[in-house]
Amino acid sequence: MARNIIDGKKVAELLRQQVRDDVREWVGRGNRPPMLQAILIGNDPASGTYVGAKTKACKEVGIESETVTFPDTMSVRELKEAIRTYNNDDSIDGILLQLPLPGHLHPSQVIETIDHRKDVDGFHPMNVGRLAVGQPTFRSCTPAGILELFRYYSVMTKGRHAVVVGASNIVGSPLAIMLSRENDSGKATTTLCHKYTRDLTRHIIQADILIVAVGSPGLITGQMVKEGVVVIDVGINRVSDSSRDKGYRLVGDCDFESVAEKASLITPVPGGVGPMTVAMLMKNTLLAAKKSIYPSDNM
Ligand code: GUN
Repeated sequence: MARNIIDGKKVAELLRQQVRDDVREWVGRGNRPPMLQAILIGNDPASGTYVGAKTKACKEVGIESETVTFPDTMSVRELKEAIRTYNNDDSIDGILLQLPLPGHLHPSQVIETIDHRKDVDGFHPMNVGRLAVGQPTFRSCTPAGILELFRYYSVMTKGRHAVVVGASNIVGSPLAIMLSRENDSGKATTTLCHKYTRDLTRHIIQADILIVAVGSPGLITGQMVKEGVVVIDVGINRVSDSSRDKGYRLVGDCDFESVAEKASLITPVPGGVGPMTVAMLMKNTLLAAKKSIYPSDNM
């Protein structure tokens, strides 16, 4: 692997090993293994692949999991009903609702139904709110995984200028909170760019650390970034490629070749951020089982 490429697969593997050891210790103390309930709606192939990767990782670290697949015609009422059943089931520690949802199921409505103590994705407003005010919480997996990469590669964020492109609830917004907070591992001067940002390049060129989570292949090119920048590319885009068996290949939001030439560190796609998201989900599921964020006697 080239010197400046961040190996997310390797760091995720180390994290999963740590979770596996912790699960073993937890079970060795007489507890049942942690249990994750995954919910998949419809037959989006990418979502199916992600949930498959998550349940595979569960197995590897000793976490039990089950995936329920519902048709994309399901109503909001039916989905909320199913979630309430999982909320009330003491044998389930974590609930993962794979996004995106079909258009008629509004994520914010549904996510609030999930018991915040089982919200291993960290998407519930209770957990996002706690993140914003610096209280212990389930931190959403992709941003938390990015901070782990910074830790592993000794990327200093304190006092540096981080530019986040893309303000989604899953990545950009929680990441900007984490990076900017004084009492988190961030402490960076943080700029959050989104679809209304004027003159994107003017912001990006200033970044010491650039995180792109938009879903637009080739959005960022080498000309737009500063020499020595650390680049985290969260985009996972399928572009057609007849030379591949599957008929497509995965690319990020950066034009990899030109950006990598100027970056001091850069994540590849695939093998960068993706495996970290899965590893952080394992960590959150164990935290849920241990009731580490919300101890039962506080409820
Ligand atoms: N869709 C894209 N990323 C994620 C994620 O981290 N969690 C869930 N539940 N859905 C996603």
